[in-house]
Amino acid sequence: MNELDSLVGAARADFDAAATAAALEDAKARYLGRAGRLTELMKGLAKLSPDEKKARGAAINAAKSQVESLLEARRRALADAELQAQLKAEALDVTLPGRSRGTGGLHPVSRTIERIEAIFGSMGFDVAEGPEIETDWMSFTALNNPENHPARSMQDTFYVDLKDAEGRWLNLRPHTSPMQVRYARAHAAKHAGQGSMPEIRVIAPGRTYRVDSDATHSPMFHQCEGLWIGENVSFKDLKVVFTSFVREFFETDDFDVRFRPSFFPFTEPSAEIDIAFRSGPLKGRWLEVAGSGQVHPNVVRNYGLDPEQHIGFAFGMGPDRLAMLRYGIDDLRLMFDGDLRFLTQFN
Ligand code: DAH
Repeated sequence: MNELDSLVGAARADFDAAATAAALEDAKARYLGRAGRLTELMKGLAKLSPDEKKARGAAINAAKSQVESLLEARRRALADAELQAQLKAEALDVTLPGRSRGTGGLHPVSRTIERIEAIFGSMGFDVAEGPEIETDWMSFTALNNPENHPARSMQDTFYVDLKDAEGRWLNLRPHTSPMQVRYARAHAAKHAGQGSMPEIRVIAPGRTYRVDSDATHSPMFHQCEGLWIGENVSFKDLKVVFTSFVREFFETDDFDVRFRPSFFPFTEPSAEIDIAFRSGPLKGRWLEVAGSGQVHPNVVRNYGLDPEQHIGFAFGMGPDRLAMLRYGIDDLRLMFDGDLRFLTQFN
């Protein structure tokens, strides 16, 4: 091997041994720098004759260009390795779940109430909301519950030692039924002196409160009141409306409805509405879904209307229970614990 070949070999080994760009530049200087081995060889040409100079010069140049291309190749390899290392260090696992903000969702009870509103809305019912802190008169007396009458104990009311500015006792409403009175009175007042009054058709969903707490009762729960008053509204209409509601709500025709005689002070006659699915997991079990009845004449009077002229029905149901039946939830407390593992299933 001649001197130039071994020089090229040494350069290759030096370049390969350089692990960084800086080390490679040092190695380059040893061959191509001002005092580098190839530069020194070039300087030595001066002492040679023209013929020798030509042959020797060409050989050195060939060696030089070999060294230069070795250097270039090593530079690229080092840059490549550096890039690979950087990519590896900054690697992203695109299969990991993202750190998104997460999308919120409506609570199953809110969804259920929206559903109830949409279905009754399609049957011409207005939606009303009213106060959760209610007067004793609205909660009971106006609904034909005489003061001190034992029927008041049908509801485990949170009684509080509190009166409003006009001296009326207040409570957390134990049901949405006061909304019958509030809405009907406003409706009657709005149309007073107009000769005839449009029918009252309204639902009133909202929070209600009772001293009650177990797997099927919560001290705060929801009710939805319904009221339809006109000149000729009957139990038959209640049956049609309620059956249509159940069909739409549960998206099935496969159920039976029964009206079971019952007692409520504000209706006469009164009935519990039960439904039983003919198929599915609840097949054949009668489920109580609402209280209902023809509005008592005393209550119609408290609406500010003449019971000889205005007649109709009311009903009250529990959106919480309806949500549980629809989604197959067996413990009411899940609804109000705020546990995201439960709630996000409805998003
Ligand atoms: N307010 C009753 C309750 O909480 C439910 C109810 C029954 C409402 C009959 C009504 C009705 O409007 O007509 O138990």
